[in-house]
Amino acid sequence: MCGIVGYIGEQDSKEILLKGLERLEYRGYDSAGIAVRNGDGIKVFKEKGRIADLRGVVEESTTGNTGIGHTRWATHGKPSKVNAHPHQNTSDRFTIVHNGVIENYHHIQRDYLGDVEMESDTDTEIIVQLIGKFVENGQTTQEAFSEALKLMKGSYAIALLDADEEQTIYVAKNKSPLLVGLGDSFNVVASDAMAMLQVTDQFVELMDKEVVIVKKDSVQILTLEGEEVTREPFKAEIDMSDIDKGTYPHYMLKEIDEQPAVMRKIIQAYQDENDQLTIDSSILDALESADRLYIIAAGTSYHAGLIGKEYLEKMAGIPVEVHVASEFGYNMPLLSEKPLFIFISQSGETADSRQVLVRIKELGHSSLTVTNVAGSTLSREADHTLLLYAGPEIAVASTKAYTAQLAVLAILASVTAERRGREIGFDLIQEMGIVANAIQAQVDMKEELEKLAADFLSTTRNCFFIGRLMDYFVGLEGALKLKEISYIQAEGFAGGELKHGTIALIEEGTPVIALATQESVNLNIRGNVKEVAARGAHTCIISMEGLNEEGDSHVLPKVHELLTPIVSVIPLQLISYYAALHRDCDVDKPRNLAKSVTVE
Ligand code: F6R
Repeated sequence: MCGIVGYIGEQDSKEILLKGLERLEYRGYDSAGIAVRNGDGIKVFKEKGRIADLRGVVEESTTGNTGIGHTRWATHGKPSKVNAHPHQNTSDRFTIVHNGVIENYHHIQRDYLGDVEMESDTDTEIIVQLIGKFVENGQTTQEAFSEALKLMKGSYAIALLDADEEQTIYVAKNKSPLLVGLGDSFNVVASDAMAMLQVTDQFVELMDKEVVIVKKDSVQILTLEGEEVTREPFKAEIDMSDIDKGTYPHYMLKEIDEQPAVMRKIIQAYQDENDQLTIDSSILDALESADRLYIIAAGTSYHAGLIGKEYLEKMAGIPVEVHVASEFGYNMPLLSEKPLFIFISQSGETADSRQVLVRIKELGHSSLTVTNVAGSTLSREADHTLLLYAGPEIAVASTKAYTAQLAVLAILASVTAERRGREIGFDLIQEMGIVANAIQAQVDMKEELEKLAADFLSTTRNCFFIGRLMDYFVGLEGALKLKEISYIQAEGFAGGELKHGTIALIEEGTPVIALATQESVNLNIRGNVKEVAARGAHTCIISMEGLNEEGDSHVLPKVHELLTPIVSVIPLQLISYYAALHRDCDVDKPRNLAKSVTVE
């Protein structure tokens, strides 16, 4: 969470920084700020709220060829102007932006900064005050920067300006992502390549605890011990049109609509020259030698993991456990003898998942990351990666990455099954084509789904999703989608569980959305719907052709039963979208959230 940018070159940096921050707003939008350096010194502008609010306070007349910027998701200190970055030390000589959490900031403050009065409640101010203190005591800026990094525990991506050095940005990272972008007579810094694609597509990856000195014509990378490191740049393969909203009112709607194309792209990406599905043999070897798979993920990706378990167990015949990353790291279950860990993460940056990866690597276990972002931290640090090929997902609420995760897990399961000589009984390529068409049919039914959202959700305070078997997992995802963007309290339950307690919450008019796509439990879920309807619930059944009954609110085209989650989630995404619109919510940037959650 939080995004940082920097520019050093010959142009005025303001607009480049602001544009970059707009592209990083998915990382947090509680407050924002920039600092620009010119002949008169460093000028800081900051504001509570979004980049649009920041634009309102940035003086047009102030220019500067060097600058840094920040968009914040508050961790230490409430969202406010005073806690907004950039932060400066008491003498205003040093200015810093920071993404991450300094875990030992209290100790640093106690041991080194007892006499310094802090302006903000942030851990970040401690860093800049510490550097200021070391320089006061006689160190050079570079020495002070390295010394501070050695003392800091936690995660950080930092850019630092020194008012006495017009031509330098000091940069470092630990656990939080950070790239340096290369240009002709300029260089840039960004949490994500997307932020600076407007000026360059050439980037250099930074490694944890390196000290990087960025000037307009050079980038010097040093270890903390001062040894120089050389690293080749890479080209960011992102198309600008992928990150543009085009004529859509929201990224979320655009990303929902992109799902049929994403399904086709994934199938193509995983086909060999004989049009057969294929997975890198080293990944298949890793699955082959594992006696149990442990899927680790958070939020929507965790929900994808629950369905991934069904695929891998039913098709490939390997036992799978699915765990919430933030719990697993601190309460590891007894592991099997030969575990393989599968990390599912759209961003590839989720700190909760990363801490598990670090721990299982220490234990010597192998790992596979399934992610949308090539070169992301989880991808770099795991032994193997499978990419989602969903294209950049910008709306905070995940849609196309979730269905892409399901598709890639289905492919992994089916190719593994083949390797193990197991018959899955259907042609996945053909069935995925049917799935893509069924998704298309759903996104073409926006009017009907908008009406469903209006009928069921426009005034309610709460909503329940019920389903059985895989429908239960899709219900969990439907509930998460609805609550995160519309702020309606929504919960997903296994259909049979309500009567064990939750049914007490059903009142006259309480919306209950039921999924009925699983043949073996079709009658059971319909029985559960009757139970809540008898107690006054306003019920909506989303069923599948062949299992539908008169009076169902919405009927999905028939697809292979194992693949139903990839289709049944689409109406839930659209219903959530329209419910949020009806309530005037900020669909793409729901309150309190950020897309890339890089704090534990
Ligand atoms: C919800 C959503 C989140 C993420 C979660 C994990 O729409 O997007 O629940 O799924 O924060 O993020 P990744 O997948 O990037 O690890």
